[in-house]
Amino acid sequence: MDLKKFMSKSAKVGEIYNLDHFRMGWTQNVRRLMGNELVFPPSPKVIEAVKNIADSLNWYPEDILTDIELRTSLAKYSNLPGRADWITCGNGSTEIIDMLYEAFLDEGDEIMISNPDYSPYVRRVALYGAKVVDVEPSDQDFNYTLESFKNKITPRTKMVLISRPNNPEGHFISRDLVRSLCETGILTVIDEAYVEFATDTVEDMLDEYPNLVISHTFSKAMGLAGIRLGWLVACPEIINIVNHIRTPLNVNLVARVAAIAAIEDADYIRANVKKVKADREFFYNEIQKIPGMRPIPSEANFIMVNCKESGVTASGVCDHLLEKGYLARSFVNARGLPGDQYYRVTIGTHEDVVAVLSEIKAYVNAR
Ligand SMILES: Cc1ncc(COP(=O)(O)O)c(C=O)c1O
Repeated sequence: MDLKKFMSKSAKVGEIYNLDHFRMGWTQNVRRLMGNELVFPPSPKVIEAVKNIADSLNWYPEDILTDIELRTSLAKYSNLPGRADWITCGNGSTEIIDMLYEAFLDEGDEIMISNPDYSPYVRRVALYGAKVVDVEPSDQDFNYTLESFKNKITPRTKMVLISRPNNPEGHFISRDLVRSLCETGILTVIDEAYVEFATDTVEDMLDEYPNLVISHTFSKAMGLAGIRLGWLVACPEIINIVNHIRTPLNVNLVARVAAIAAIEDADYIRANVKKVKADREFFYNEIQKIPGMRPIPSEANFIMVNCKESGVTASGVCDHLLEKGYLARSFVNARGLPGDQYYRVTIGTHEDVVAVLSEIKAYVNAR
């Protein structure tokens, strides 16, 4: 039977995302420096909360719409105390981005996305019949100008999406640029997945701009990638629109209790962030001492390096690191990252960083 004839338009254009690196992370004896996870375990308070809920897992959770405790806790963390109606949740912020597409993009609409950026952004747009418009950085450190966005706006432009700090290269667009994007009147989606590692959030602009939408995750600074929880912050009207398309009960019970406990133990998050930032600086300074290695300044928990001038390829560096037990990520002819010259290392423990630097140095010296 030809089952393809039943396929929807979305299924026909959808691509299966390759996540082999997570399989490798789980099944091989490697240090996971490929997915920008936190390498430290969750806070003991989170572990306790998860254990305590285990014998209630026969019950459905509450839906996020009635779960006022979780939303209140998230609103407080997002500097919006008492404003739980400014929050909704997703199964990871990856789902949040999809929810925004489903809620706002129609056939033929355009969405501007910085190039490069988090790769699922681009792949998912076609499912909703919309079109990605690439916006290019203006220099080799991946800075952006307002003009590069403005020049691409057409009557079909509905949304602009950018991660701040940006994955995969780590740069942090200025507050002024965010403000100017909001002032264009299009939906301005800022993905703050890595914001705890950076200097500031733009959440304080939410009152001024009802078209500003901010996405967050528990997967990075909170060290809870496994619970799959992201949250969206925007004015109540936007939240209400998104809730129209949200899958019911999309936040599971384990995620809910872990999230509340993680936020209550904010000191633990801050302590881990402090360690990562110190080692990010260390890595940034040290990698430059290896001839031809040019790190991109990063405000996130990873550093991308351009090795074009070093005489080795990015995939060569990553293959070597893997042989030595460190799983990093190379980008070979990826969107916005041409050639085989960019690799990215998640900042792990200090020992990880020291070992990775020493292995890269040995690899370059041996060429
Ligand atoms: C910019 C950015 N946004 C979102 C995500 C996905 O986060 P989540 O685990 O919440 O789906 C990632 C993951 O690497 C990311 O880099």
